[in-house]
Amino acid sequence: MSAMITLDNVCKKYGDFIALKQTSFEIRKGEFLTLLGPSGSGKTTILNLTAGSASPTTGRILLGGRNVTNEPARDRNIGMVFQNYALMPHMTVFENVAYPLLIRRLPSKEIKAKVYDVLERVGLKGFESRKPRQLSGGQQQRVGIARCIVYSPKIILMDEPLGALDKNMRDQMQEEIKRLHKELGTTIIYVTHDQEEALNLSDTVCLMNHGSVVQIGRPQELYYAPKHQFVAEFIGESNILEATPTGTEGLLRTGDEVLIRLPAPPVGGGPFKILIRPEKLRPVGPDTAAAGQANVVRGAVEFVSFFGGMTRLTLRRANGSLFHAKRISDQGAADAKPGDPVAFSWAESDMVLLKS
Ligand SMILES: Nc1ncnc2c1ncn2[C@@H]1O[C@H](COP(=O)(O)OP(=O)(O)OP(=O)(O)O)[C@@H](O)[C@H]1O
Ligand SMILES: [Mg+2]
Repeated sequence: MSAMITLDNVCKKYGDFIALKQTSFEIRKGEFLTLLGPSGSGKTTILNLTAGSASPTTGRILLGGRNVTNEPARDRNIGMVFQNYALMPHMTVFENVAYPLLIRRLPSKEIKAKVYDVLERVGLKGFESRKPRQLSGGQQQRVGIARCIVYSPKIILMDEPLGALDKNMRDQMQEEIKRLHKELGTTIIYVTHDQEEALNLSDTVCLMNHGSVVQIGRPQELYYAPKHQFVAEFIGESNILEATPTGTEGLLRTGDEVLIRLPAPPVGGGPFKILIRPEKLRPVGPDTAAAGQANVVRGAVEFVSFFGGMTRLTLRRANGSLFHAKRISDQGAADAKPGDPVAFSWAESDMVLLKS
């Protein structure tokens, strides 16, 4: 499929400060791409450059193959949804949503039809004459989304649109955004620093740090095949062991004598960083955890965290470091107590070798 948005060697400097290091990527027509990353990593900068509210220091921006680098924002016909809704407080819901059509000088009959149609799509039928302050946060955000989609922009940029909502409302709105994206087929760049939101919504996740793209790929790729420690730690929960080869092929050892057997021997001398996701750990009895066994960690229960459907057990190893194991909660099971000795094992295929 053709590229809808292209960043071609784009860099953004503010004085001497580099907000976005030289970056290139393409977003396909209809793709949902999420920019994920810590505060200050350059996410909003990419939105601003795409929208035209900031211009790149070097490089080009193409929309649908057309070079728009020097085109003003108003000519790009891009829809925006903001975290703080940015609704006009003195206007009703109807007037807020109608506004982009008014400034595009559509006939009033058409405006009315379009506004009623999008309000129905976002579940706000019957709220036309309310003012923003008479709405909940989630409803206000739906008005923001309605106002954006009402003029059918080909590209929508969303900057932390659900950041101000509580968890339930956020979950619900995520599903609505997914449905709308499917129905409208719009190309979307979405910004969040909530990793679960990014994994749930996106075709593609672009993880940023310090003004650079660290890894870009499908959500499953970033979760199961992170290239760097930063990705492994930012997305999902992680256990990371550092180990060096023992001399026996495929067998490594950590500083505190945990033996690790990899499915294939790593290239080079190490030390190697190895990721094991908490849900891959299986409790093993003291016999199976006998000394000399590979892919087993031992320790004492530090604490048990109950999250409803999931329970996380944190164990402290003899060297003081923590290890996390996650499992589906089991109401009938006897709870481990702090201080209890425990051991966990994992499959060779559940380890990921990290670059750094
Ligand atoms: N107009 C500006 N002048 C100077 N520096 C800026 C300007 N806009 C952004 N920056 C800097 O560029 C860097 C990237 O900012 P950006 O807004 O893209 O971060 P972000 O990833 O969106 O962060 P957040 O999650 O906090 O919104 C930050 O260090 C920021 O301080
Ligand atoms: Mg931002």
